[in-house]
This record gives sequence, C-alpha cells and structure tokens, in this order.
Amino acid sequence: MTASTTTRATEIVLPGPVEPDELQVRARDLPPPGQGQVVLRMEATGVSFAEQQMRLGKYYDQPPFPFVPGYDVVGTVVATGPGVDSALTGRRFAAVVKTGGWASHLHVDAADLVAVPAGVEPAAAETVLVNGVTAWQMLHRSASVATGGTVVVLGANGGVGSTLVQLARHAGLRVIGTASPRHHDAVRALGATPLDYRDPALYEKLRGLAPDGVDAVFDHVGGDGLKQSWRLLRRGGTLVNYGSASTKDEKGNALLPLLALFGRLWAWNHLPNGKSATFYNFWAGKRRIDAFRARLAGDMTQVLRLIANGAIEPQIAARIPLERTADALRLAESRTVLGKVVIVGGTT
Ligand SMILES: NC(=O)c1ccc[n+]([C@@H]2O[C@H](COP(=O)([O-])OP(=O)(O)OC[C@H]3O[C@@H](n4cnc5c(N)ncnc54)[C@H](OP(=O)(O)O)[C@@H]3O)[C@@H](O)[C@H]2O)c1
Repeated sequence: MTASTTTRATEIVLPGPVEPDELQVRARDLPPPGQGQVVLRMEATGVSFAEQQMRLGKYYDQPPFPFVPGYDVVGTVVATGPGVDSALTGRRFAAVVKTGGWASHLHVDAADLVAVPAGVEPAAAETVLVNGVTAWQMLHRSASVATGGTVVVLGANGGVGSTLVQLARHAGLRVIGTASPRHHDAVRALGATPLDYRDPALYEKLRGLAPDGVDAVFDHVGGDGLKQSWRLLRRGGTLVNYGSASTKDEKGNALLPLLALFGRLWAWNHLPNGKSATFYNFWAGKRRIDAFRARLAGDMTQVLRLIANGAIEPQIAARIPLERTADALRLAESRTVLGKVVIVGGTT
C-alpha cells in the first residue's frame, strides 16, 4: 500500500464516563501516515487497569473524552509514511501508545515500534508490553534483588503481577504472591507461594514466611497496607510502589491519593534504617525521548525473548474480537481473571 492511500479503520470510542455497553464503534477513513509514521494493522491489544480507570474518567493522566483507548498494541505494518523505510511493511511490531490501540488500524510513530520475535504470536506478545516492561523495570531497575533473595508481589494474578512473578522466578528469586483464593493454584503454578490478600492475618503470615524480612515488595495497592509493605522489608530492602488500587473508587481528583503516596515514600526514604522506597512510573524520563525509547525497546525486547524461548509463559485470560470490546472490558473489570484480557484484530 502506498503512503497516499487511506485505510478504512474500525475504532472503539469511549465517549465519556459510561458503562462498557455504551462504548461506540466507529468506522472512518484513516488518513495516509504522516512523516515518520506507519499504519499498523492491529492483531492484538488489551485491557489493563489503565483503561478500566480511563473508562471512569479517573486515570491519573486522563485523556479528554471522546477518545479511542488501548494502551499497547501488536500489529503488522501495512503502510509507511515519508521518512520511514518501506521495508517495514509486512513486518510485525509492538508499541506502547497509551491511547488508540482499540482499533483495527492506527497510526504509530515508527520510532516507537519494537520488533516482535518470529514465533511469538500477537496475543502472547501483547501480555508483556506495558505489563512486561513495567514488571521488568521494577524488578531489574528499581529493586535489583540478588539471586536467592525473597520478594513479595501483591496482585500476583494481575497482568503486571503474573509477569512479575515469572520474571522474579526466572531471576532466581523466591516469590510470595497475594491473590484471591480462586487464583492460588495458578499462582503456585507460576512458582510463587500464594496468600489471600483479604485474610486479616495476611501480614502475620507474610512475616512467618520471611522472618528476617524480604528484599523487595511490589505494591500497587497503596492505602493503609503500604505501611505494612514497608515493615516487611529487611535492612537493604526496597519498597516499589506503582499504584493505588485501594483508592481507585474514591471520589475526587485521581492525583490526590498519588501525591499522598509520594509524600509518604519520600519521608520513609529519609529514615536512617537502610531501606528504600520508590515510586515506579512507566513514563519517567519521557522528556529525553531518544534515551526513553532506547530503554523501553531494550527492556521490551528482553521480555519478548523470554516469551520466545519459553522461559516465561504468556498469561492470556481471554481472546476477544475487537467488535466485542465491551465484553473484554466487562471481563477485565469483573476481578475474576488471571493475566491479561486480550482483544484480537482481524487479518485484513
Ligand atoms: N506506575 C506505573 O507506571 C504502572 C504501569 C503499569 C501498571 N501500573 C499499575 O499496576 C496495577 C496492575 O495493573 P494491571 O493492568 O496488571 O491490572 P489487573 O490485571 O487488573 O490486575 C490488578 C490486580 O490488582 C488486584 N487488586 C485490585 N484492586 C485491589 C485492591 N483494592 N486490593 C488488593 N488487590 C487489588 C487484583 O486482584 P483481583 O483479581 O482479586 O481483583 C489483581 O491482582 C494497577 O494498579 C496499575 O495502575 C502502574
């Protein structure tokens, strides 16, 4: 396809803070790709916690309505714009786009494309884009736990959590993972010791499993439990906080609970007890875009390779066609799934 051709695209639009049933399906002619862009034919995208919050208008970096959600995407290049090597056409890539992925075709900056290794199917790759990079960077850049250490992963059944458990096991760490009892067998199969996060004796049990403290806790729940996560650390240990799921339903500005978190982490970090606390942000460093892209591509490639060689198993909760995106969102929000709900595209 030449750069001047338009492409008919089907897009899923979030018109405002609505129920999943009220998502809109729109067909439109996608203009030819601009300078430095490609048209990607979507093969897999997905639902993460971010889209669940965006649907409610409560994402910390909420895009203005109406918009097409879809944080990350896997697809094949079908057209290239000016300044882009036309040899990319026909090749499969992944990208983290923050919005726009819930579409049959979309424009993506060629500089954001990361090659998907041969043999990795689109839905499998999709499970480790934003989730895989988040898990990898928290484990290897924020915490850096030496082989043989012990870590705690809250939400071990989630999209990020189930990948993090596997990356930690692959790095030779002992993992304790929290999840609802319905997921305990699966969490055990990933290599972690499961505990119920609703158990009132959770922290007692965690201390029982690691009486000398743990090397890292990965906490996306925040709230009052964050103090308990901090207390679990041994001297030299790291608390990596990366969200505030416990306050997700609170009314008001979605940034306020995060600001409270930052204050807490900052204060703990200055205590003379050898522990450290950090907030992980996927988009940190984005202002230095070349360095950001290089780090992102390098880390995503590492995780995709682990999928390619079977070292980690993609956790696909379901595959749902684009036109049934409302079902995908409902399923992801049901709080019953393990891994990532993947939305799949067509073949043309
Ligand atoms: N900081 C960053 O840059 C960054 C990047 C990516 C993701 N994140 C964060 O990572 C988290 C996970 O994202 P995801 O896409 O993997 O979500 P997901 O697949 O929906 O998984 C969410 C996990 O959190 C658990 N959970 C939800 N609410 C909870 C609560 N109130 N108390 C305890 N556990 C709770 C869920 O357990 P159930 O299944 O039992 O409900 C599930 O294990 C989100 O909070 C997201 O904001 C942050």
